[in-house]
Amino acid sequence: MDQNELKKLVGEEAVKFIEDGMTVGLGTGSTVKFMVDALGERVKKEGLNIVGVPTSDRTAEQARSLGITVKSVDEVDHIDLTIDGADEISTDFQGIKGGGAAHLFEKIVATNSTKVMWIVDESKMVDQLGAFPLPLEVIPYGSQQVFNKLEKEGLHPEFRMTEDGQHVLTDSKNYVIDLHLGEIKNPHELADYLIKQVGIVEQGLFLDMVNTVIVGRQNGPEVLTARP
Ligand code: 5RP
Repeated sequence: MDQNELKKLVGEEAVKFIEDGMTVGLGTGSTVKFMVDALGERVKKEGLNIVGVPTSDRTAEQARSLGITVKSVDEVDHIDLTIDGADEISTDFQGIKGGGAAHLFEKIVATNSTKVMWIVDESKMVDQLGAFPLPLEVIPYGSQQVFNKLEKEGLHPEFRMTEDGQHVLTDSKNYVIDLHLGEIKNPHELADYLIKQVGIVEQGLFLDMVNTVIVGRQNGPEVLTARP
């Protein structure tokens, strides 16, 4: 199976965990896209009564087009389960997210969820975080100053740009700075430092947050329990 087939596999496996009546956080990205497709199928075939809480405009649009009821995080009183992708997951179940520039909304939805599930192909499982550049969502005003400070700290920042040289904008119209770190020895320390910097709205380390990880392996999906 190639990477896309593994993403589809875990997307389809994840929707088996969704029960009638649930409010479900819907992540963002190519893996989640397969999951939302599979959820749409269940809604259509089984008349499943669920509410989806999307983490991006893209996911909201896809869910609506499939007949899934969509509400914003502020319109629901709880979220039973959030299913999202990830860019890297370490052996102790810490994660990097934000490759799709959606980590702010993803973190808001995840931290308001009873359970969090990540779905990934096996290439995302790593010994140590940091080969994938760590995304930061930053307010445009003063972002060059934030960038300069991060550069002085030796954190190798890079503004995320579109192919035609414009800043990539998040759904909140903020910029993204990626930190090219190579390895992250102490994720908690780094997360604490980054979130204290004025102008950084959210950073892409998702720590002590996930309950279940479904990994797409060549011999089938592997369901791992990170924390009860
Ligand atoms: C978006 C994310 C995605 O979950 C992450 O980038 C994984 O994406 P994909 O499933 O396309 O590999 O964090 O901000």
